[in-house]
Amino acid sequence: MSSTPVGIHDISFATTSLVLDLGVIATRMGIDPQKYYSGIGQVEMSVPARDEDIVTLAANAALPIVERHGRDRIRTVIVATETGIDQSKAAAVYVHRLLGLGENCRAVEFKQACYSATAALQFAAAIVQRDPQQQVLVVATDVARYDLQSSGEPTQGAGAAAMLVAADPAIIALEPVTGLYTEDIMDFWRPNHRDTALVDGKTSIRAYLHAIEHAWQDAQRQGAPGFEQIDYFCYHQPFTVMAVKAHRHLVKIAAAQTSSAQVDAVLEPSLIYNRQVGNSYTASMYIALVSLLDNVAQLDGKRIAFLSYGSGCVAEIFTGVVQPGYASHLRTAAHAAALQGRTAIDDADYLARHAQTQPTDAGAHPTPHETTGHFRYAGLSGNKRLYEATPARSDRAS
Ligand code: HMG
Repeated sequence: MSSTPVGIHDISFATTSLVLDLGVIATRMGIDPQKYYSGIGQVEMSVPARDEDIVTLAANAALPIVERHGRDRIRTVIVATETGIDQSKAAAVYVHRLLGLGENCRAVEFKQACYSATAALQFAAAIVQRDPQQQVLVVATDVARYDLQSSGEPTQGAGAAAMLVAADPAIIALEPVTGLYTEDIMDFWRPNHRDTALVDGKTSIRAYLHAIEHAWQDAQRQGAPGFEQIDYFCYHQPFTVMAVKAHRHLVKIAAAQTSSAQVDAVLEPSLIYNRQVGNSYTASMYIALVSLLDNVAQLDGKRIAFLSYGSGCVAEIFTGVVQPGYASHLRTAAHAAALQGRTAIDDADYLARHAQTQPTDAGAHPTPHETTGHFRYAGLSGNKRLYEATPARSDRAS
């Protein structure tokens, strides 16, 4: 087993072409928009165009990475998602083709609610540890959908985060100790016959806190760094106030000496992007990481704790250290452009999109060209999903 440091060599995120201000939903529901803006800490949510889905989001997030680093060393691509588009074929196979990866590659999909990208990252790290010449592309991608008028409606969103896992990583070296927790609980789930998730909101919040507590205790027993040795905390963020609730809980169970102001200061940079994207399920914690990296200067040598939770439920806590010189590898301008380049839609448009379902017959169902991204879902024909590259209509930096 090699002792070469392994971790995140590059990271990039993508979101949809459309955005909805949560005030629009509050107005329709007749409630105070502050409940969303400050009560749950969400301002906007990304809404997919008709030709965007988890595959196009994933390929858009990963394209700048393969363009920068090349494709030759990538022998594994993992797509982590709970927004499966097929019961059998892995979304990673479509992403593999769109990115032009070599044929001598494994392509696979991971699922366990919002946790699966963390499992993918650990799996990737193990592959690289075994053969440091290889690089693994991990892409977390999801579209969060709940029923209209449900408590979950304002916590929808969509996004993808792509990471290149490699030896001698330029951005974050992962530390080996992790804390784990699994429990069979029905806090949030999506049965096969539904395209919106079911959730017991209050139970899900309790389950999240309980799982993080037990994963933290396991991490401590395994010899992980203590609270005081950690500089920043990146949580799964179904809504950004959830990270604040979880961190306050952690402060209590770790008996840490910290003030409310310090809690806010340490979390705020990781909340900025998710406040605008909404819940991107398994991508959310990694978009939080991008937000932290893009919004704090001089993180060299800082230790970040990652607190990953997926309903159902599985939690994992691990740490990583930001590498010297990491800042020159970031994509801050491209990420700002992705958020600012979205087109705002109104309630009528959002409702029409929400009502749309996938055809179930074998006919031809082309989608209109709406996306500003590099790839599009061209529609369904003969029960087959069609994807194609598209000349990017925006002038986003890469
Ligand atoms: P709710 O029941 O409508 O909201 O839905 P509430 O009444 O609990 O209010 C929310 C907060 O806003 C409260 O603050 C209110 O006081 C405050 P808190 O008591 O929590 O501190 N509030 C206001 N603040 C300012 N001005 C006002 C105002 N009014 C009220 N005027 C809930 C909230 C999160 C339950 C809902 O959005 C939901 O069901 N979301 C989906 C489930 C979810 O996100 N769960 C999170 C944990 S599970 C998880 O993270 C996994 C997940 O990502 C899926 C996966 O793993 O795959 C979901």
